Amino acid sequence: MQNNNLSNNSSEINPRDCIIVNDILKNDDETYILLSEIFMQKDMIIKVMKNIYNPYLNSIYKTLYNHEYFNIVPIYGFTHCKDDFKNLKLTLMEKGICDGTDNNQINLLIMKEIKEEKIDFKKLSTKQLASIFFQIIITSLVLYKETDIIHTDIKLDNFKITKTLHDSEKYTTRHPSINIIVKLHGHRVYLIDFDNGIIEKKTYLFVEDVINTCKNFFNAYPIITSDTYNLLINDLKNYKNDLERVNINKLDVVKKVYKMLLKYLNPIIGNDVIIILDY
Ligand SMILES: Nc1ncnc2c1ncn2[C@@H]1O[C@H](COP(=O)(O)OP(=O)(O)O)[C@@H](O)[C@H]1O
Ligand SMILES: [Mg+2]
Repeated sequence: MQNNNLSNNSSEINPRDCIIVNDILKNDDETYILLSEIFMQKDMIIKVMKNIYNPYLNSIYKTLYNHEYFNIVPIYGFTHCKDDFKNLKLTLMEKGICDGTDNNQINLLIMKEIKEEKIDFKKLSTKQLASIFFQIIITSLVLYKETDIIHTDIKLDNFKITKTLHDSEKYTTRHPSINIIVKLHGHRVYLIDFDNGIIEKKTYLFVEDVINTCKNFFNAYPIITSDTYNLLINDLKNYKNDLERVNINKLDVVKKVYKMLLKYLNPIIGNDVIIILDY
């Protein structure tokens, strides 16, 4: 459980809460990203979405309140600038973000600020790159398995990489045989921006997801095709493109990740499944 030391229930925004905006990190047609203080806590990020209140996003982010995924940004609240939140609303009006009318019900996503480290990918070892890569794959698969949420927009801009002294972290899933220890090799990855996420009920088993994802990722042939499967694959393709963008030797990293995945898959699937590497 994410212990964020917030008073009461951290997923509820207290109407008395006032936000102090310390910096505007991004401002475009769709969003403001504000570095803020709220709940008497410093260094929170408030993502203000200028479009109208979106119940679908609300259910995705609510699912992620107090989540246990160490690779996903802690989410503290998702709401809109309604009258009950007088102080919030006033602050936003003061900043010119909300015009105070009913048709200006902007979404507010409140989350922990992830302090990113500037990373020179070329200076990372294969082990470190593979760990970053593996954290992303395994997070998106475990998340999907556990909550039916598919991110669908995984790319370098949508994760933050921090340095850590922790040696490893463990994913405990509801599936008793999938308790995955992830070696961090100095870096922890946080997935952000679930705005393009979708919730889709699983049509097949987790193990099959992983096998098929691997198969496609390693340019072998998938057995099952479905929309869900294609979405997962797209995420991985994006990531593969990112590796190219930062100009690193993809093949070594990919092989290492493949070995790591096999290590976790073998006890579950036995030795019958052969994944063909086709490079
Ligand atoms: N929790 C966070 N901690 C630190 N920076 C963040 C956080 N959330 C967003 N940002 C910064 O704001 C940028 C845009 O956020 P994102 O949620 O991806 O919005 P968009 O929908 O505009 O892509 C990110 O690339 C990141 O630099
Ligand atoms: Mg983004």
